[in-house]
Amino acid sequence: MTLTLHTMRGNIAQIASDAAIVNLFEGVQRPGGATGAVDRALGGLISELIEDREITGKRGNNVLIHTPAGRYGDFAPKRVLVMGLGKPTGFGYGDVREVSAVAVNRLRGISKTATTIIHGAGIGGLDTAKASQAIAEGSTVGSYSFNKYKKTSKDSADRLELLNVVEFDDDKMPEVRVGVGVGITAGEAQNFARDLVNEPANVLSPEAMLDAARKVAEDHGLGIRVLDLAECRSMGMNAYVGVAQGSHRPAQFVHLTYEGDPSNTSNNIWLVGKSITFDSGGLSLKPSRGMVTMKGDMGGGAAVLGAMKIVGTQKPRINVHAVLPMTENMPGGGAQRPGDVVQAMNGKYIEIDNTDAEGRLTLADALGYARENGAARIIDVATLTGAARVALGTGNAAVFGNDDGLVKSVLDAAETSGDGMWRLPLDSTSKRQNRSNIADVKNSGGAPAGSITAAHFISEFAEDTPWVHIDIASVSMVTGNRGMFRTSGATGAPTRTLANLVASLAN
Ligand code: BES
Ligand code: MN
Ligand code: ZN
Repeated sequence: MTLTLHTMRGNIAQIASDAAIVNLFEGVQRPGGATGAVDRALGGLISELIEDREITGKRGNNVLIHTPAGRYGDFAPKRVLVMGLGKPTGFGYGDVREVSAVAVNRLRGISKTATTIIHGAGIGGLDTAKASQAIAEGSTVGSYSFNKYKKTSKDSADRLELLNVVEFDDDKMPEVRVGVGVGITAGEAQNFARDLVNEPANVLSPEAMLDAARKVAEDHGLGIRVLDLAECRSMGMNAYVGVAQGSHRPAQFVHLTYEGDPSNTSNNIWLVGKSITFDSGGLSLKPSRGMVTMKGDMGGGAAVLGAMKIVGTQKPRINVHAVLPMTENMPGGGAQRPGDVVQAMNGKYIEIDNTDAEGRLTLADALGYARENGAARIIDVATLTGAARVALGTGNAAVFGNDDGLVKSVLDAAETSGDGMWRLPLDSTSKRQNRSNIADVKNSGGAPAGSITAAHFISEFAEDTPWVHIDIASVSMVTGNRGMFRTSGATGAPTRTLANLVASLAN
């Protein structure tokens, strides 16, 4: 059941629902604003509970009050959920997303309908439209679940169907409506990416991922070009072909086009997403424990597809291309061998040091293809290295680039969307690790600085095109709850960052 969001003007105390979500900053003794209005309608009950220290406003102090019909005059909601916002200093949109996500989960099993005030727009000082957007994003992303394969235990907990974002001030309603609309689009696109990542690899083959891309193109009027392996071979994409040839399932090289500025083709950005639908490691086979999550090795492609949905909805004035080199990485009889040498589309020879470093091989030719077709800027997104997690933990993706301006644009977009990202260096010392005795470059630089050597490898194929590489192996999946992610599995990051980036570069 997906959560539906609406907006409504009015006094939340007078709007019937199974639960009204209000809030309190830490340290506030007498709530004001909408929470104050609810407090008054309840005869000061919230203030009383604050005095009793049951309600503290601390983050995580979320108190549910039961207010059945008729017990408090004409108070309409059946429950009130008071969400603790923590200290007001530093309270931001990321907090609004998280609080919204936690709130919808708290109500998930007990309410069908809920209303919410706009967190942070009062003494938090946040912008109404952006806070409304954050509420829509947080509650959409926060109410996500993937239970299509749970036939018997289908979550009875998933009862929350409707969330109404309520604002008292009529003048603010246009901002609320716009913000919520933008947030729904963004949150649903992120959840779409999560669905693709969570889908098991027996179902999500390269062909199934192609179907998903076709659907995105159809729904949003995007151009689509699909190359099969023979075409890729004839175009010289032997790095990509080498990876694909170990699988029985046909590879699909997919190029989507959004024409937001058709008369100005050089005003473009190319989003390249690693799209390995399963990474066994190939002949450099992964150990079992490293393989279980490898259905998610198309997380970069999924985020790019999600971003194209947002782009296709918001229609910025810029041309956006998506390139998804889809394939499995399998150790079949036709698989490439460690020690093989392949020539990429840009002419460079690559020594295959490790067939498990397959993502960079597929990206090498995807970047070659993008450059050949007039890319002015390239962003690649990839679950590329386990080392990203070692270097940064699970809070940040690793960012690299050959253009400081473009890197900054990406980091700014990430900041706006709340996706953690941190730049790492492309230092010349690490670069040496990719040297090959027999070819121009080898595809693995050994253990030290594994994310950096992978980025160096890709930079050989970005050449002089402004390029940013985002290694999302650290953030693509979560275990347990974190922030607005309330269920283990895919995060869909950095779907919204990519769309924000595109919007920020549009003119
Ligand atoms: N898809 C993996 C990276 C990965 C690991 C993503 C864990 C998410 C979680 C990638 O293709 C890979 O296997 N990388 C190797 C590179 C090595 C062979 C140079 C790695 O990280 O070990
Ligand atoms: Mn691999
Ligand atoms: Zn991989």
